[in-house]
Amino acid sequence: MHCHGDLVSYLSCGMMLAGLGHLVYHKNIQKSYGRHMGRSPPARTVPARLAWFLQEMPALLVPLLLMLSRPVPAEHEEQGQYLLLGTFCMHYFQRTFVYSLLTRGTPFPLGVMLSAGVFCSLNGLLQGHYLLHCAQFDDEWSADYRYKTGLLLFYIGMAMNVHSDYILRNLRKPGEVVYKIPTGGLFEYVSGANYLGEIVEWFGYAVATWSIPALSFAVFSLCFIGPRAYHHHRFYQETFKDYPKFRKALIPFIF
Ligand SMILES: NC(=O)c1ccc[n+]([C@@H]2O[C@H](COP(=O)([O-])OP(=O)(O)OC[C@H]3O[C@@H](n4cnc5c(N)ncnc54)[C@H](OP(=O)(O)O)[C@@H]3O)[C@@H](O)[C@H]2O)c1
Repeated sequence: MHCHGDLVSYLSCGMMLAGLGHLVYHKNIQKSYGRHMGRSPPARTVPARLAWFLQEMPALLVPLLLMLSRPVPAEHEEQGQYLLLGTFCMHYFQRTFVYSLLTRGTPFPLGVMLSAGVFCSLNGLLQGHYLLHCAQFDDEWSADYRYKTGLLLFYIGMAMNVHSDYILRNLRKPGEVVYKIPTGGLFEYVSGANYLGEIVEWFGYAVATWSIPALSFAVFSLCFIGPRAYHHHRFYQETFKDYPKFRKALIPFIF
């Protein structure tokens, strides 16, 4: 398959604009899922585990299918493309088969699950198609400082994200639906520690791939979960009188 440059540009621009639109709309209001659904959750919901499994799966499946539909490259050929796409798939393997199956979250609105599934499919297609059919790596790619620093940031971000999600999950006993003050790890500094990890992860990935599609996804993530971190922080401050004053919403010591 040859590179569909127009498709890559449209999807990348669309993703960035969708992120910015989401940021503007959700600056003051946050309703989509979880604690912000309020007292009247939508009529149609899906159990959290099933919802996360189904909605995240396409971001793993689509790149895998794209990889499988290509002839096997000769040794040393296209290693960079496969390694970076494999890194993207690793995140979604964790999200689909570990995070989803362990979550103790409240039921998810069906509409949000469907839109997240469409987003994950398009994002999987964008990142997979770009890396496999458009990206060019020269012989020195693995020595490039952007690749090394980007991947390092990605792994640091992923560790922060997975550890923070683990802390949140263990705040509840099975079957319990309450919110408690998270403690430990990066939660000592920010209320949105899992979101901070995820944002670092995708900006690291954008540096490692040095590509517009990956940058668009990083910007989208920042615009999508940044406001959630801010609203979670306000929720904690309003709910718990003893909420640590030192703690910020998303960026330690700053915001
Ligand atoms: N890249 C992206 O654009 C993007 C977008 C969305 C999410 N994500 C990632 O997906 C993961 C989940 O996101 P999310 O928005 O669902 O995160 P979240 O709102 O922080 O919730 C994570 C889980 O922990 C529970 N929880 C949160 N705070 C709690 C507390 N104080 N006490 C007890 N339980 C608590 C939630 O339960 P409830 O469901 O009952 O609130 C939910 O099951 C994160 O790692 C996030 O980075 C990425």
